[in-house]
Amino acid sequence: MTLPSHVRIVEVGPRDGLQNEPGEMISTQVKVELIHRLVDAGIQHIETASFVSPKWVPQMANSKEVMAEIKQKKGVCYAALVPNLTGLNRAINANATEVAVFSAASESFTQKNINCSISESLNRFLPIIEAAKARNIPVRGYVSTVLGCPYEGDISPEQVASVSREMLDMGCYEISLGDTIGIGTPLKAKKMLEAVTEKVAITQLAAHFHDTYGQALANLYAVLEEGISVIDTSVSGLGGCPYAHGASGNVATEDVLYMLNGLGIHTDINLDKLVQTSHWISQQLGRPSASKVARAMR
Ligand code: HMG
Ligand code: MG
Repeated sequence: MTLPSHVRIVEVGPRDGLQNEPGEMISTQVKVELIHRLVDAGIQHIETASFVSPKWVPQMANSKEVMAEIKQKKGVCYAALVPNLTGLNRAINANATEVAVFSAASESFTQKNINCSISESLNRFLPIIEAAKARNIPVRGYVSTVLGCPYEGDISPEQVASVSREMLDMGCYEISLGDTIGIGTPLKAKKMLEAVTEKVAITQLAAHFHDTYGQALANLYAVLEEGISVIDTSVSGLGGCPYAHGASGNVATEDVLYMLNGLGIHTDINLDKLVQTSHWISQQLGRPSASKVARAMR
């Protein structure tokens, strides 16, 4: 299989990366500067905010203020995560240019994350997607725990395929397949993708892999070989998951970019600027960057 010539990076650091930061809420000013720096580095698709219940995810409570302070650049997608119609309305008022809905391939994870079953979560999406479409706001879908669940262990690839298919049929334009706890290995990732592509076109899928076991780049290479051309990443490897203990960050944007550059795959992102941003946000958070590439290029 030939590798794609271009990959679209979806930067999820400001949302997925920061949502789980312990301690005080990261200031609006820091979040806004992070977003501006990432866009300046060439990121064109960025998840900036999350309009979920602040009781559930306190770190995202200043999302409205963050969205209000961003100077949106033409051509850049500023996405927001929404769990229900309340979240959608807040995202619309905040001028999000895309929204994302999220479910999982595991019943237990869905209960812990959004307090409902998978099928209830899908029912919730219908009015969200209808209302978003009426305003020409594209809706992206996340399916979490595609390579394993912290509560249930192995997840059947067929379950991943059927939840993904259902979300696309409801009107999502793309499904991001999340290895939420970073437990997958390349062969497992390939087999999962093979099952999903029985029901879904590869062009409608993205890979969202965490690096908990140090497998994320290997897993990404495996799915690039299968034809994946959209990858979710998080600058400095920020992240974790509030409902998945032990999950370390999303794969670092810098590490993925370095690999893609080496493979001759284009992204239009400037690695030097990204590395500077990685060190800058790490300094704000008071710890070193989790990206090996950022540390090597210091
Ligand atoms: P609930 O408690 O079942 O529902 O939460 P509720 O309707 O009773 O709401 C509880 C309170 O939240 C109420 O306030 C609501 O008004 C308020 P109260 O009456 O107690 O004062 N509320 C809201 N406030 C602001 N914005 C809203 C909103 N909705 C309700 N949109 C709910 C259900 C879905 C709301 C909750 O479970 C929730 O917000 N969950 C979000 C969890 C989350 O964000 N998890 C992390 C994201 S998923 C992820 O990270 C994985 C992913 O990145 C992929 C990967 O990494 O693999 C996508
Ligand atoms: Mg993630």
